[in-house]
Amino acid sequence: MGIGQFLTMKAHIRTYGCQMNERDSEAVGALLANAGFEIVTDETVADVVIVNTCSVRAKAEDKALGKLHNLAASKHAHPARIIGVIGCMARRTGAELFEKVKGLDFVIGPRRLSVLPAVIESIRNGGGAVLDIIGKADEPANLSGHINTGIASFVTVVEGCSRGCTYCVVPEARGPETSRPATDIIEEIRTLVSAGVKEVTLLGQSVTSYGRKAGIGLEHRQSPLGLEEQFPRLLEGVATVPGLRRIRFASSHPSGVTVELARAMSSLPAICNHIHLPLQSGSDRILGLMRRGYSADEYREAVSRLRTAVPHLAITTDIIVGFPTETEADFDATRRLMEEIQFDNAYVFKYSPRPRTTAARWVDDVPPETKALRNQLLLEDLDRVGLSINQRLVGRDVEVLVEGESLRNRTRWSGRTSSGKIVIVEPVDGMSGPGMITVRIERAMPQTLYGTITGREKERA
Ligand code: 5AD
Ligand code: SF4
Repeated sequence: MGIGQFLTMKAHIRTYGCQMNERDSEAVGALLANAGFEIVTDETVADVVIVNTCSVRAKAEDKALGKLHNLAASKHAHPARIIGVIGCMARRTGAELFEKVKGLDFVIGPRRLSVLPAVIESIRNGGGAVLDIIGKADEPANLSGHINTGIASFVTVVEGCSRGCTYCVVPEARGPETSRPATDIIEEIRTLVSAGVKEVTLLGQSVTSYGRKAGIGLEHRQSPLGLEEQFPRLLEGVATVPGLRRIRFASSHPSGVTVELARAMSSLPAICNHIHLPLQSGSDRILGLMRRGYSADEYREAVSRLRTAVPHLAITTDIIVGFPTETEADFDATRRLMEEIQFDNAYVFKYSPRPRTTAARWVDDVPPETKALRNQLLLEDLDRVGLSINQRLVGRDVEVLVEGESLRNRTRWSGRTSSGKIVIVEPVDGMSGPGMITVRIERAMPQTLYGTITGREKERA
């Protein structure tokens, strides 16, 4: 298929869900742009509208379905418009989506995204609707294209998940865990850095499992830090890319928080001062039912390994409240462990049974009001703890990577500290765009810091 094939066509991609989906949407955008599409932000002018869906909770699926119904209705006004579904719902729901959404043209699974230009071409030529959700060997998508690269980019390193937590739809939605070859990852990052990227976030459902199964090795056998495990070695490899200032990764699993990971985090200056380490619950009984593979004590040990190596590490987490059979005592165990660890922030989710998962066979017996109350209590705790952690930064000068305008107030800039905290500043004269700056923090909120620019980094030649 030649470049320029779709020269007159406009495509719009609407994304729901996590960073993984954001990354996939960007890769699809690059794929389509290479085929000649114009990628547009205005959906109303698009000839092709692609909805990248999330299945993690019922609510996320309902949102995407609502959007798809609206789009299907828009076909009255735009009869030639092509509408498609990608992402987690595509593979999980499959052909049923054509029944749910009349007028839908394609459903393509997360690992089949590279077929999109050909699929759109065939639909345009009258070939009819296309369902392609799992390839023969369930091979990874391994897409590396980027568009509109700003200063910070996502890079996929692990696709799918094989952990089998009892509540989670991801193994079904994204297939078994596979790691991308390190050479492809490092090459992708080199290209990004040469386009001006200063920060990358390495993505995987369980990124710390990188390379565990397959023989995906790094090319260099000699590890300067003496690391043997695949993920810390990948970090070490990525850190060799000249000009790359910051490395983040998400999400981590406590089983991957080894001495080697802690050592890599403390000795590689580019690795950010932050880890996202989902806890899910502080009750051993619930963790067992979730089949998370660790106890509350093992989670504590993982945190202390990290904090011994990196004393001021910011730690964020995911929590599920109202898992089947969760009692007040289980919830209290979660609350107490969260207080003990002092998380910088957390995403709190109300348990939502997902079809065909193990936990969906159990009665969803925690009433919605109890889930809502537990959710609310944790959010209040998090605000209090987050504020007290952030207040310690007031009066300090911190390094901030400005990513762009603040969404709330476009006259201000928004960036992040190495610890992942959002910092809002007033631009100063001569500051033309994203880059690394020093900010004196003046005011702290639970989720956001405000300050004044005290230094602008000169570009290193
Ligand atoms: N119900 C509620 N939350 C869920 N998560 C995953 N599956 C479910 C579910 N069935 C949450 C977990 C995970 C995050 C991405 O979504 O906390 O870490
Ligand atoms: Fe991301 Fe999970 Fe939602 Fe899929 S189901 S988009 S992996 S959060």
